[in-house]
Amino acid sequence: MAQGFDDPGTQQLQQDFLGHLWPPFTQMQGLKPIIMDRAEGAVVYDTEGNEYIDAFASLWTVNVGHGRTEIYDAIKAQMEKLAIYHIFQIANEPSIKLAAKVAALMPGDLDHVFLTLGGGESVETAVKMARQYHRNRGHGTKYMVLFRDRSYHGTTMTATSAQGLSMNRQKFEPLLPGFIKLGAPYCYRCAWHKTYGEDCKMECAKVVEEEIAFYGADNVGTMLGETMIGTGGVIPPPPEYWPMVNEICKANDVLVINDEVITGFGRTGTWFGFQQLGSNPDLVTFAKGLSSGYLPLGAVGARDHVYEAFLGGGDKTFMSGATYNGHPLCSAAGLANLEIIEREHLVERCAEVGAYFQEGLKTLTAHPIVGDVRGMGLVAGIEYVKDKATREWFPPAVGAAMKVRDEAFRRGVFVRLLGGGHCHAIAPPFIISKEQIDTVVRVLDESIGVVENELGY
Ligand SMILES: Cc1ncc(COP(=O)(O)O)c(C=O)c1O
Repeated sequence: MAQGFDDPGTQQLQQDFLGHLWPPFTQMQGLKPIIMDRAEGAVVYDTEGNEYIDAFASLWTVNVGHGRTEIYDAIKAQMEKLAIYHIFQIANEPSIKLAAKVAALMPGDLDHVFLTLGGGESVETAVKMARQYHRNRGHGTKYMVLFRDRSYHGTTMTATSAQGLSMNRQKFEPLLPGFIKLGAPYCYRCAWHKTYGEDCKMECAKVVEEEIAFYGADNVGTMLGETMIGTGGVIPPPPEYWPMVNEICKANDVLVINDEVITGFGRTGTWFGFQQLGSNPDLVTFAKGLSSGYLPLGAVGARDHVYEAFLGGGDKTFMSGATYNGHPLCSAAGLANLEIIEREHLVERCAEVGAYFQEGLKTLTAHPIVGDVRGMGLVAGIEYVKDKATREWFPPAVGAAMKVRDEAFRRGVFVRLLGGGHCHAIAPPFIISKEQIDTVVRVLDESIGVVENELGY
């Protein structure tokens, strides 16, 4: 319950937050504490009684919206039956049902599901699977992993080694060997022209081919990429990109991992982003939307041929996993979440309301400091620029995108700063109403206007 600014309970919480809680990616010095108290649907309230549209669904997570009693009920029922049992060589009922459900939703022969507790762990697991896959088939030298400029895959050491945003990796060197950065999100041409695909056709995937040729197909075993770059600035790939990458990787016996931690389970308007973007991955990583974040949950999906490479003698066994993989409560939450998405046709809703959302946000391109608005379904990025013609970014000290975000906060809309500080991402719960979308667009429009005035545009 909201307590109000002067409430002693709120003040104590704020003191304890600043004094004891060490949150991720947060500079504590000078932080103005905002403490979330409760939430309903697409709206979240802080302890001071302020109300915000959760236009980033917590962290692109709460896809079915806040306050879903069906998920609490499923967790409670499972808690009363069997709160915890591991799945090392045995199993529990919800983990089996969840794996079967995810396998049924995935297309083709993506039939095998390894459960984790989050996105970074899924990526860690998929990369290890890919390395052991090659080893099990007698190609142990194929250990190199290609990743892309502006990629984000989490914060484990593997994910940090595959990190395409330099500020998230520089401080942790030396990173793991064998991770090869592709010099552009999709292709060099897009990066030079800052068009990220609009103008780019046949050259898109050349960068992958060139690097495999340079390092040698005997050494390169994996291509890891978000199906659509998210944290790097929400950049949908050109339609030619994934089909071409798939073809090149197949020709070189390189496994494709599509990171679907954001795009999995509906956000782009299809169950999986790779279906829309023409990819046929060997391994897929999930998290966030799998449980809508009600409990920590992630997964790796594997095609038959990958799984089969692990069958046989004991030395073929995948030697990786953690105590809480297949946790019964998290699995029960995941199942209840997927049931809601299916029953309420939320994937279809994402496509339909997504079109309205993208159209509304596109109007913001009328602003001189908005260089681009792009996205798919219910996920969009806004890129802020100093010069619209050249797409030159503001120097970091100006902090234009941060200023717009702060103005939007003050007006009751939560968006997220990312893309190296030059972009906003907007990824609301799938149940957001059209009226709430209108409010998000109006508030961003006003907030951008305020910052433009301040900057003298
Ligand atoms: C594409 C992608 N992969 C992996 C991760 C890491 O997920 P987690 O924070 O659950 O470890 C994220 C987080 O935002 C992500 O966007």
